[in-house]
Amino acid sequence: MDFELPLFLFNKNAGEFYMKSDTAVPVKDMPKTDPRMKLIAAKLKKESFKPDALIEILHTAQNAYGYLPKEVLSYITKALHLPPSRVYSTVTFYHFFSLKSKGEHTCLVCTGTACYVKGAQAILNEIERGLGLKAGQVTADNKLGVQVARCIGACGLAPAVVLDDEVQAKVAPEEIVQKINAKIGTL
Ligand code: FES
Repeated sequence: MDFELPLFLFNKNAGEFYMKSDTAVPVKDMPKTDPRMKLIAAKLKKESFKPDALIEILHTAQNAYGYLPKEVLSYITKALHLPPSRVYSTVTFYHFFSLKSKGEHTCLVCTGTACYVKGAQAILNEIERGLGLKAGQVTADNKLGVQVARCIGACGLAPAVVLDDEVQAKVAPEEIVQKINAKIGTL
């Protein structure tokens, strides 16, 4: 192997990228309880699993997660039957896509229509008031990053917030800072 990237290995002799085996998560093993995975699965189905829909599907994933987790990328790569090199070059070509979450822990506030109507902005305001962080920002010690998503596919739970991978349903603004502190410690 000539060199290594976060998700891929490059074989110089073959001139090809290979996805690392530990990131190759079978579709059946993806977390079924995460509404964001259902959202991506629905998008894949809507696009008839066409490889040409890669960018749209990556957009759906990026909007739902705030970045592209390796398991999700692996899932999409396999579902579209694409070579990892194509997915990797697409993800790295567009600035919109990110392979890393901002912060060791993430707080993703859904600002899709249902969540917005039910108070997503009040949640963001409370996070800013209580923790001094706006959407897109990360604490100086990189412990927590706050991001927004357009819809995480759990509209019935609005307003929804995802702390790390845990969906917080029907969160009241005054609860959110408390939940963040309880989960990751007082900042
Ligand atoms: S709008 Fe928030 S989960 Fe759909």
